[in-house]
Amino acid sequence: MTLQLDYVDLYIVEMPTAFKPGDTFYPRDTNGKWLYHETDLCATWEALEACKDAGLVKSLGVSNFNKRQLELILNKPGLKHKPVSNQVECHPYFTQPKLLEYCRKNEIVIVAYSPLGTCRDASWVNLKCPPLLEDELLVSIAKKYNKTSAQVCLRFNVQRGVVVIPKSFNPARIKENFKIFDFSLSEADMKAIEGLNKNIRFVELVMWSDHPEYPFHDDF
Ligand code: A2P
Repeated sequence: MTLQLDYVDLYIVEMPTAFKPGDTFYPRDTNGKWLYHETDLCATWEALEACKDAGLVKSLGVSNFNKRQLELILNKPGLKHKPVSNQVECHPYFTQPKLLEYCRKNEIVIVAYSPLGTCRDASWVNLKCPPLLEDELLVSIAKKYNKTSAQVCLRFNVQRGVVVIPKSFNPARIKENFKIFDFSLSEADMKAIEGLNKNIRFVELVMWSDHPEYPFHDDF
């Protein structure tokens, strides 16, 4: 009704950390304390399955789920529809090797958010991690292919089967970000970029780290 669509292609659970139901997505009390909701991820998943069965949704996915949380869904008794995707932070400084392997095995597509290393807004970004697009290796590889470091970051993920959602408010950069299908990175360059992994998140969501389902305490 609100969307004015007959159906949506992909409907995802944005966070495994549930919040108190109401008009606000991320509610707080008068003291500013987050209002969490006891999470039953399997019950949430069954509600999504009902949306698919009703024809409102073509595919179901999740976001920010760790391996344990994915397993909870995949091993749910009576599972009707598997998650097709898991949207997580993924870029050359945070390559997600373990989660990627696990998802590949289970035919879950990884969708990368912040594939360019975010806008570096100090209010929500971990700035201990240096600016991705200024990385010397990425800049030198980009030069070799006559591309930009942003295009190399996007191509790197696409070439290893990771979907990318780069964000830009700038028309020229939006166009630039599409021009990644007319070149491919050599195997050696792919390996070198993989070697940049720092295992540090730009998006830590530390404000919710005391939520029982906070996903990033686990190794992956
Ligand atoms: P802008 O909106 O001014 O283009 P992410 O997708 O990792 O969250 O990154 C988004 C940030 O990257 C935004 O600050 C955006 O700025 C910038 N950005 C997007 N595309 C490019 C590009 N091709 N080159 C450099 N910066 C880019």
